[in-house]
Amino acid sequence: MVSILFFLLLSTNFLATTQQGQFNISLGSSITPTGNSSWLSPSGLYGFGFYQKGNGFSVGIFIAGIPQKTVVWTANRDNPPVQGNVTLLLIGGGRLVLQSADGQEISIVNSHEPVAKASMFDSGNFILYNSDQEIIWQSFRNPTNTILPGQSLLAGEELFSSVSETNQSTGIFRLKMQNDGNLVQYPKDTPDEAAYSYYSSFTDKRGENVSLNLDVDGHLYLVNSTGFVIKDLTPGGYSTEGTIYLMKIDTDGIFRLYSFKLNQNSSVSIVWASSVDKCSSKGLYGLNRYCVKNDRDIYCQCLPGYLVSGEGGCQKNFSTENCESKDGNIKYTIDRVANTTWEDASYSILSLPTEEECERACLEDCSCEAVMFKDGECRKQKLPLRFGRKLESESNLALIKVGVSNFAGAPGEGDEPKRSKKDSQTDLLIIKDSSATSKSFLTLSFQSGDLSA
Ligand SMILES: *[C@@H]1O[C@H](CO)[C@@H](O)[C@H](O)[C@H]1NC(C)=O
Ligand SMILES: *[C@@H]1O[C@H](CO)[C@@H](O)[C@H](O)[C@H]1NC(C)=O
Ligand SMILES: *[C@@H]1O[C@H](CO)[C@@H](O)[C@H](O)[C@H]1NC(C)=O
Ligand SMILES: *[C@@H]1O[C@H](CO)[C@@H](O)[C@H](O)[C@H]1NC(C)=O
Ligand SMILES: *[C@@H]1O[C@H](CO)[C@@H](O)[C@H](O)[C@H]1NC(C)=O
Ligand SMILES: *[C@@H]1O[C@H](CO)[C@@H](O)[C@H](O)[C@H]1NC(C)=O
Ligand SMILES: *[C@@H]1O[C@H](CO)[C@@H](O)[C@H](O)[C@H]1NC(C)=O
Ligand SMILES: *[C@@H]1O[C@H](CO)[C@@H](O)[C@H](O)[C@H]1NC(C)=O
Ligand SMILES: *[C@@H]1O[C@H](CO)[C@@H](O)[C@H](O)[C@H]1NC(C)=O
Repeated sequence: MVSILFFLLLSTNFLATTQQGQFNISLGSSITPTGNSSWLSPSGLYGFGFYQKGNGFSVGIFIAGIPQKTVVWTANRDNPPVQGNVTLLLIGGGRLVLQSADGQEISIVNSHEPVAKASMFDSGNFILYNSDQEIIWQSFRNPTNTILPGQSLLAGEELFSSVSETNQSTGIFRLKMQNDGNLVQYPKDTPDEAAYSYYSSFTDKRGENVSLNLDVDGHLYLVNSTGFVIKDLTPGGYSTEGTIYLMKIDTDGIFRLYSFKLNQNSSVSIVWASSVDKCSSKGLYGLNRYCVKNDRDIYCQCLPGYLVSGEGGCQKNFSTENCESKDGNIKYTIDRVANTTWEDASYSILSLPTEEECERACLEDCSCEAVMFKDGECRKQKLPLRFGRKLESESNLALIKVGVSNFAGAPGEGDEPKRSKKDSQTDLLIIKDSSATSKSFLTLSFQSGDLSA
């Protein structure tokens, strides 16, 4: 039974990858952004060539048979766009290059031996051959953010999301087919560790060479090295009439299976998504802010006392420079952010029974920018705070240190301590730079140390 299934799967793949036309590109062939701008596969479905990026062009593979060119692969995706006066050329020496008007050349793919021929297939695969007709490079083995039917993501390979729908440069999320058999999503610059993951297929320890595969009927699944389907992400069996499927890790970090209807009015729809929780992608909104979900939408929220910064995140709207000095112009209070989770990058963990003690521990420590209080544990944090999201089922309480200007010179105010706006519940009075309270904080600090020891 299982072996029959395997045979069927194999033949589906076989059909998808071999029964198709190829457009052959010989040495000396060239295209330009403003003339013949792509090499189309025989059916006209896929094209290799120039597409618009910003106010210039990039080179890649796209679905050409529909009005909106949908990019499925990009060459040198982090390079800036090129202008119209360039030529994409399969030069005699056996290289595929982008030649500028003044003769400079940029390699489009890095092949280790001379190219004799290139082919654009109806499957969407672009292949470079040597003079022995052997494959020396193929786009299917060098994916960017998309997997097409017949294409696999092999153990050790990963996809990276794009910056935006119109900018195919490397974005902030990745999807990795791990060598332990697990398919996992992480933010871009994090280690392959469970603490950073935000999606898993839960197939770890299922063998070394597990791969992610997509068939023409939208079947998305994991196969082990002996050919057994160890997990179906989608059941497949969707209509193939005038329809193609592709899987893409989107800019929001979720990977989705899309269907493209080609026959009628071309339409695109989502068949399946790795998560319905749009706040699940860790770090979606950058640093020092958190993702909040309501019934229909998600939005981002800066930490209290923080403002949106240019780099997509939030930054302090106060200084901590004078924290050490007693005659500073800034006082510090604590604002509470309930029911949120964050990366745990604590530099010190104290056992403190109450929220108030945890707040004090942070206020009297100039290195402390925030504390996470949960189950009697007080975790001191430095900036930035990452991967924040609101979760109603979460008991963690984030206590954020906020600086408030000290209007010491203003009449009537004197050294009146400032009250944290959001502390109405606990009615705490918190002050840093009055010598009397500083001393009592110091005393408490020793007690805290004793408690945590
Ligand atoms: C492209 O080359 C292959 C292999 O040499 C050949 O089988 C095929 O017919 C060629 N395709 C076209 C459209 O010429
Ligand atoms: C575009 O390609 C077609 C077919 O290969 C050719 O006949 C035509 O001359 C080309 N046009 C330009 C501007 O290169
Ligand atoms: C694409 O995004 C990258 C990274 O954010 C940025 O540096 C680049 O300027 C963007 N390109 C365009 C054409 O907008
Ligand atoms: C190519 O076009 C760009 C922008 O239009 C221009 O700055 C550049 O000088 C051109 N290069 C040559 C060699 O003509
Ligand atoms: C592949 O999965 C099948 C079924 O679970 C199992 O019997 C087989 O040992 C697996 N192969 C490898 C190499 O792990
Ligand atoms: C996995 O693939 C690698 C590279 O092809 C190979 O060296 C290794 O033996 C394979 N491992 C298993 C368990 O099949
Ligand atoms: C295609 O779009 C046109 C114009 O928007 C509409 O009149 C027509 O009914 C559509 N056809 C189908 C099959 O959806
Ligand atoms: C940011 O800080 C400045 C100077 O302390 C203050 O005037 C301003 O009101 C603050 N903005 C917000 C939104 O808190
Ligand atoms: C959410 O925060 C509120 C306010 O701090 C708290 O009363 C409630 O217990 C928290 N929810 C959970 C599930 O811990």
